[in-house]
Amino acid sequence: MTNYLEAAKEAAQAAGELLRARFEKPLTVNATTAHDIKLEVDILAQDLITKILLGCFPEHALYGEEGIVGDQSSDHQWVVDPLDGTVNFFYGIPHFCVSIALRFRGEVIVGVIYDPIRDELWSGEKGQPPLLKGRAIRVSPRANLAEAVVSIGLAKTSATIDAGLPLLEQMVHRVRKCRMLGSAALDMAYVACGRLDAYIEQGISLWDIAAGSLLVEAAGGRLEMEALTDVPDKFRIIASNGRLELR
Ligand code: IPD
Repeated sequence: MTNYLEAAKEAAQAAGELLRARFEKPLTVNATTAHDIKLEVDILAQDLITKILLGCFPEHALYGEEGIVGDQSSDHQWVVDPLDGTVNFFYGIPHFCVSIALRFRGEVIVGVIYDPIRDELWSGEKGQPPLLKGRAIRVSPRANLAEAVVSIGLAKTSATIDAGLPLLEQMVHRVRKCRMLGSAALDMAYVACGRLDAYIEQGISLWDIAAGSLLVEAAGGRLEMEALTDVPDKFRIIASNGRLELR
C-alpha cells in the first residue's frame, strides 16, 4: 500500500506545484455557470496526475472532476479533484488544494490532500494514523457545540444552496462561528487535524470528499454520508470530530 501512498503524494505535489506556479497569473477560463468556473488549469493538473498515477499503475482506473480514464469497474480506482477551490483560485484567494484518493473495490484505502500555498500535505492509508507534514493528527476534542467552529458548504446549484441556507441559519446561532471557506477537501483535512470541529454540505461530489473521508475517520472523527438520489456520486455529508450533537 505504501507504493500507492507514495505515488499519490508525488502526484498531489506535482499538481500542486503546477497550480502554485500559475496562481495569480492570467488564466484561461473554459466555462462559467452562475456559481462555478471551469479553468484550463484544472485539466492540466488532472492530466499531470493521470500521467503519474496511471504511469505507475496502468491497470488502474481514474475518476476525476475533469474526466474519467480506464475501466471504472477495475478493483483499483483513483478518485481525483485536481483543483478543489477553483473559484478561490480564480479570484486570487490562496485557499485551494489537490485531493487524491485510491479506492479498492469501492473502499477508500489511501487519501492525500495537498495545499500548495501553505505547503501542507495530509496523508493517510487505511489502518494507519493520518499525518500532516509527517506528524500524526487527531480530530479536535471539543464536545460543546457552543464552542465549535463549523464549516458549511453551499455548493454550486440552486437546489444545494437552498438546502444549505436553512442549515446555516440554524447553525450560526448554535456554534461559536460558522465558516464558508470554498474548498471541501481542505474542510475535511481541517476537521481531521482539529482546526475545524465539523464540516457540513448538502450536495458534494465524491472527488471533493473521498480523500478527506479516510483522513477524518482515521483521525478519530465521524462521517455521515447520504447519497443524493437525483445525481450520481453526490452526497449530503457531515464530517465531524464525533463529539458534537449537530442535528
Ligand atoms: C467546490 C468546493 C466548494 C464546495 C463545492 C465544490 P471545486 O469544489 O469544494 O467548497 O462548496 O460544492 O464543488 O469545484 O472547486 O472543485
